[in-house]
Amino acid sequence: MKEKTIYEHLREKGVSRRDFLKLCGTIAGMMGLEFVAPVKAPGKSLSPSPEEIVAQALKTRPKVPIIWLEFQDCAGCSEAISRSSSPLLSNLVLNDIAIEYHETLMAASGFQAERAKEECLKKYYGKYVLVVEGSPTLAEDGIYCTVAGKSNLDLLKEAASGAAAVIATGNCACFGGIPAAHPNPTRAVGVADLIQDKPVINIPGCPAIPEVTTGTILHFLIMGQLPKTDQLKRPLPFYGNTVHDHCLRRPFYEAGKFAGSFDDEGAKKGYCLYQLGCKGPTTYNACAGLKWERGLSYPVQSGHPCLGCSEPHFWDGGGFYQGQSAPTIRLDKGSTATLVGAGVAVGAGLAGVNALKKSRAKKELKKQQASEARAETENKKEG
Ligand code: SF4
Ligand code: F3S
Repeated sequence: MKEKTIYEHLREKGVSRRDFLKLCGTIAGMMGLEFVAPVKAPGKSLSPSPEEIVAQALKTRPKVPIIWLEFQDCAGCSEAISRSSSPLLSNLVLNDIAIEYHETLMAASGFQAERAKEECLKKYYGKYVLVVEGSPTLAEDGIYCTVAGKSNLDLLKEAASGAAAVIATGNCACFGGIPAAHPNPTRAVGVADLIQDKPVINIPGCPAIPEVTTGTILHFLIMGQLPKTDQLKRPLPFYGNTVHDHCLRRPFYEAGKFAGSFDDEGAKKGYCLYQLGCKGPTTYNACAGLKWERGLSYPVQSGHPCLGCSEPHFWDGGGFYQGQSAPTIRLDKGSTATLVGAGVAVGAGLAGVNALKKSRAKKELKKQQASEARAETENKKEG
């Protein structure tokens, strides 16, 4: 029997054509597909817009099953995705078209859950996407994380062997995360350290931003391949810029206005948190743009320095609240580079403090205060 397309599934679920088209636009944005005005080459028809590419794919491609495993983690990434600020999208991924097996969110437990997984692995062999949350552990053959009597290493090997692609979500699955913090007693590592014969993509964060995880899953469902990545296997549409690049406190950084403590005048005025240890300049993630809770806020906006949660070794990386005179980031697997140069560059940037655009900083502060006031009113209305 011919497999149903994703569009047919959605129609069966009662999604109207109008909502379907809206969804295509949202997905195109989520996947990081940039809108390019349709172009007409001589003798050819108009090139399709991103929305049309998504609509066409959903109408023709069958659903791709997702199998979601958890190892050493706090389930924060699953928690985040189940409370995503794009409920339609996460519902689409979690319930409607994709997830066949999820250890935490599924209703079944015990033997029933194990049977459901075995059936999925067999039925969809070679076709499913494996999502891994939490770090695999190497010590003593992986016995520190065991499910149904099998070590996480065996579980990972078994599930990865039939996967079309593997998505590691959250810092733990990508780089070992908090379980890998010194002295790393379980020898936690990232999924890509163990799986080398399949395409693996990393969606780091603590937790990963839900729209980034769903956007990457949807990219595979729709385009049949994973998006382009940086050298740490992170999808470029979401990890192409640092938190600092789009930070709303950036004008204060440029102006050399820094909070010196969490309760000083600078902090009250929304100044830059660099001297309180903000890792925004060396952290690649989409939080400053996508934010959390329906675009309400993200750590730096809420008054906390970025901890660098989408970078390797973030838990051990230089102390959360120490100013970054020489930030460390890992440039490639296995080598840690101290970016003295970056520290110098930052220092040089600060030398131009006096040429600063005070009015820009003031404007930005007003904008932030207005947005916070709006959010508070919204919250009161909802609450
Ligand atoms: Fe950059 Fe952090 Fe300052 Fe924002 S708060 S401008 S990310 S250093
Ligand atoms: Fe993580 Fe920094 Fe964003 S701590 S959530 S990458 S602001």
